[in-house]
Amino acid sequence: MIPNLQIDARRLWDSLMETAGIGGTPRGGIARLTLTDADRQVRDWLKQECERLGCTVTVDEVGNMFAVRPGRRSDLPPIAIGSHLDTQPTGGKFDGILGVLGGLEILKTLHDAGYETNAPLMLVNWTNEEGSRFAPAMLGSGVYAGVFDRAYADSREDRQGVTFGEALEAIGYRGSAKAGSIRFGAMFELHIEQGPILEQEEKVVGIVEGVQGMRWYEISVTGREAHTGSTPMPMRRDALVGAARLIDRIEAIALEHGPSAVGSVGLIEVQPNSRNVVPGHVFFTVDFRHPEDAVLDAMERKLLAAIDEMTRKAHLEPELKKVWESPAVRFDADCLASVQKSAEAAGYPARRMISGAGHDAAYIARVAPTAMIFVPCAGGLSHNEEESTSLEECAAGTQVLLGAVLDYDGRGTERPS
Ligand code: GLV
Ligand code: MN
Ligand code: MN
Repeated sequence: MIPNLQIDARRLWDSLMETAGIGGTPRGGIARLTLTDADRQVRDWLKQECERLGCTVTVDEVGNMFAVRPGRRSDLPPIAIGSHLDTQPTGGKFDGILGVLGGLEILKTLHDAGYETNAPLMLVNWTNEEGSRFAPAMLGSGVYAGVFDRAYADSREDRQGVTFGEALEAIGYRGSAKAGSIRFGAMFELHIEQGPILEQEEKVVGIVEGVQGMRWYEISVTGREAHTGSTPMPMRRDALVGAARLIDRIEAIALEHGPSAVGSVGLIEVQPNSRNVVPGHVFFTVDFRHPEDAVLDAMERKLLAAIDEMTRKAHLEPELKKVWESPAVRFDADCLASVQKSAEAAGYPARRMISGAGHDAAYIARVAPTAMIFVPCAGGLSHNEEESTSLEECAAGTQVLLGAVLDYDGRGTERPS
């Protein structure tokens, strides 16, 4: 039996709207890139809210924040609820944020009811989930899970040459705890779907069984700067034309691998970026995703072949760097059972699904039993200032999250600490 506790939908919504003002954009979105001053402000806000509830907040060496609410039994490992508060440069109000503020709402609900869980509960704000300012994505949870070491995280540079380590220290969130030393027994992550399936099928809850594989690459194409008026077409080594042909090929590679494959170029820089200079150098990024790692291998082989062909034919010098590889992930059957049970108890239409987006849960699944809960977002739109999820949908996801955590906690006494 899941204890009958109800979250406060209005209070949850108000916290989403209040913090949306931190880095809020005129078009109703949020620009809160990781480790900026806006990120510091929302972190300070979260810390204060958690401390007001009697939680102890600890920060680790890569800025991950952990707020602990004690349980009846200190010998049990905490059950974590985690997601992220950083956003894309033109991000929405829900991506990641719902998972953290939904967790905060659960702490408030338990606090008001004077409810004691068996295990302690732990709310986590993971650093740099988005990977927009510092590639790769899921960096804080990745260091926690031992996928990356701290030195690697610290060395990541944004496009202005500022390192992750410098930015972390500048906002005062370099904690002393070693990453991975603050342990928990399981983690649940609530998130908006960021795709169209739940809305199209009129489901309220996604029981997320896994995350698809992802690979990020950086490509530089070098040609030669020249005068646009006086350089005959056959004499040019136009890096942008070469890059454009590769970008076209990247879309084709994704299409060749069926509806589950996606391929995107989201960032491009042209040098010298002057209208009457033939571009001499282009830098751009590639993001390939598919639920099967073998398909990503095939897509990668085609990308390498396209680059090879350019080297042979176009008098350009392309260079490919693989900067990130996150294999496909399967979540824990026990955690998923708790989510399913909770969705059924709350009476929400639900379906099992795989996540198209990356999430901290994908790395945490390597070190602790983990599962995710999705709620719909309007038109499946995300990484967009217009990203939108209703008060009712946010509340439904948070209620299912609460039920899942309490169900898992109820079974917790059977688990070793
Ligand atoms: C993170 O938002 C990602 O899926 O790229
Ligand atoms: Mn997210
Ligand atoms: Mn995102």
